[in-house]
Amino acid sequence: MQVIQPINYAPKAFRGLLRPLLLSDLNELWQLDLRCFLDGEAYERETFRYLLSNPNTIARQVRCVEYDEMSAFAIGVIEQDGVGHVTTVGVAPEYRRRGLARLMLHEIERSLTIRKISTARLEVRVNNIAAQRLYEQLGYVIVQRLGKYYANGDDGYLMVKSLDIED
Ligand SMILES: CC(C)(COP(=O)(O)OP(=O)(O)OC[C@H]1O[C@@H](n2cnc3c(N)ncnc32)[C@H](O)[C@@H]1OP(=O)(O)O)[C@@H](O)C(=O)NCCC(=O)NCCS
Repeated sequence: MQVIQPINYAPKAFRGLLRPLLLSDLNELWQLDLRCFLDGEAYERETFRYLLSNPNTIARQVRCVEYDEMSAFAIGVIEQDGVGHVTTVGVAPEYRRRGLARLMLHEIERSLTIRKISTARLEVRVNNIAAQRLYEQLGYVIVQRLGKYYANGDDGYLMVKSLDIED
């Protein structure tokens, strides 16, 4: 059963739906990813297919109601070490700074805690200040610098957050 939650952003007149991201969304997801991640940073289409086919994946999207289009996406995977790994987050340029990334990450973390996952981790480029601010606001802290982590040779930061598991 799909969870559907209406989101109202009255000041900017945006109405969105927070929904699971499914394999049937693959093409639209890939197209949005190409707009979010420039200069060869985007995932391959087959990487998304793999992620969305994995039962340990928690994936969410926000859809714009007015245009019935995907505005944002986020994907987390429960890795074999029992840590929730946020693998990617993207928001279409025209829908940024409305809290959509924060909302999706909260939802992924909530799903992780339901599964008794107590730690989340992610990687971010050292020069991606917007994403770092987002993650810091959510409570992630840098624990390690990852030399040449990205394909183009960029360094990354490993960021970690402890999640509160409710009894
Ligand atoms: C990073 C990204 C996902 C943020 O999405 P978003 O929906 O605009 O973020 P939110 O509106 O939820 O922002 C939450 C907080 O993050 C921080 N933040 C987000 N964008 C920021 C920016 N451009 N500059 C500084 N801080 C920023 C702010 O603290 C913001 O809170 P505020 O708006 O109350 O100040 C989006 O810019 C994006 O898709 N970028 C390209 C893809 C990418 O880099 N993904 C992350 C890869 S690790």
